[in-house]
Amino acid sequence: MKASDLQVLKEAALNEARQADGADALEKVRVKHLGRKGLLPEIMKGLKDADPAERPTIGRIANELKQELAALLESRRTEFKAATSAGPEDVFDDTLPGQWRPPGSKHPISQIIEESIRIFATLGFSVADGPDIETEYYNFDALNTPADHPSRDTQDTFWLESGELLRTQTSPVQIRVMEDQKPPVRIIAPGRCYRRDTTDATHSANFHQIEGLYVDRDVSLADLKSDIAYFARQMMGPKVKVRFRPHFFPFTEPSVEYDFSCHVCAGKGCRVCKQSGWIEISGAGMVNPKVFEKVGYDPETTTGYAFGMGIERIAMVKFGIGDMRLLYENDIRFLRQLA
Ligand code: PHE
Repeated sequence: MKASDLQVLKEAALNEARQADGADALEKVRVKHLGRKGLLPEIMKGLKDADPAERPTIGRIANELKQELAALLESRRTEFKAATSAGPEDVFDDTLPGQWRPPGSKHPISQIIEESIRIFATLGFSVADGPDIETEYYNFDALNTPADHPSRDTQDTFWLESGELLRTQTSPVQIRVMEDQKPPVRIIAPGRCYRRDTTDATHSANFHQIEGLYVDRDVSLADLKSDIAYFARQMMGPKVKVRFRPHFFPFTEPSVEYDFSCHVCAGKGCRVCKQSGWIEISGAGMVNPKVFEKVGYDPETTTGYAFGMGIERIAMVKFGIGDMRLLYENDIRFLRQLA
């Protein structure tokens, strides 16, 4: 071993350390040169065979190799550590402004449902629920609407291959609740309904209703009228007027349809109420004794009223929306105005 060869080996070793591209590569360089079976112990072993005149120089270079390489390895190791763990994402700068995310808000349909639940709760109503996919029995037969009944035609039904259907109204929940419990019953049932309607400004194939059912002894049409009028005032304000018109439903007798005076024009006539001054909300009536028979209630001693409410209709009057489709498009610029 000559001093000049060792000088070359030393430069090569330092270069390897400079070029290492990660902590693992550095470790390999260390083992190769400074490890127990590495270059340096070998040189030390060979020192006794070297030319005695060169020995001090070889010893000095070997020493330099050891110290310079160790120092270089150490500094490069800290370099890699800094690059991997102290990236800018790891530095928490508490002087930066926070990230602003716009707060969400309730959809107008949810707002109406929640407000309705609150209002009816003050009259002692609790909330009931039923499935969107219904059987023919609950949607029609139990509601005194047999297959040949003309009123089935007015509710264009989505039929499923299973023979089930998408409920055309929330009224089947009445049946499910009465099958489950004895009178007195006082429930509302908000939910989605489906009809094969062509979508336009006042119709949608998928809409929402709130069903109401109050069954006890001596419930009368006067109770129905006063409770709906109370609801209307709570929902729309004290000036709203309610109008009842005779109508027909197979599951109520007598039956009515009811309208709220238009909130937007106060009954004068405008675009939202199509110049009539009134908005049709839905149907109602006294529960038909035939329905009580179906659920095993005694039609002689039991009386009750039922109503449906179109939630979109209420939302349209309350918020002054001229086109129902706006409620489904989820345009954030529209929804934000009603938040
Ligand atoms: N289910 C009826 C409809 O959708 C409304 C209604 C409910 C009528 C309850 C009477 C009683 O048209």
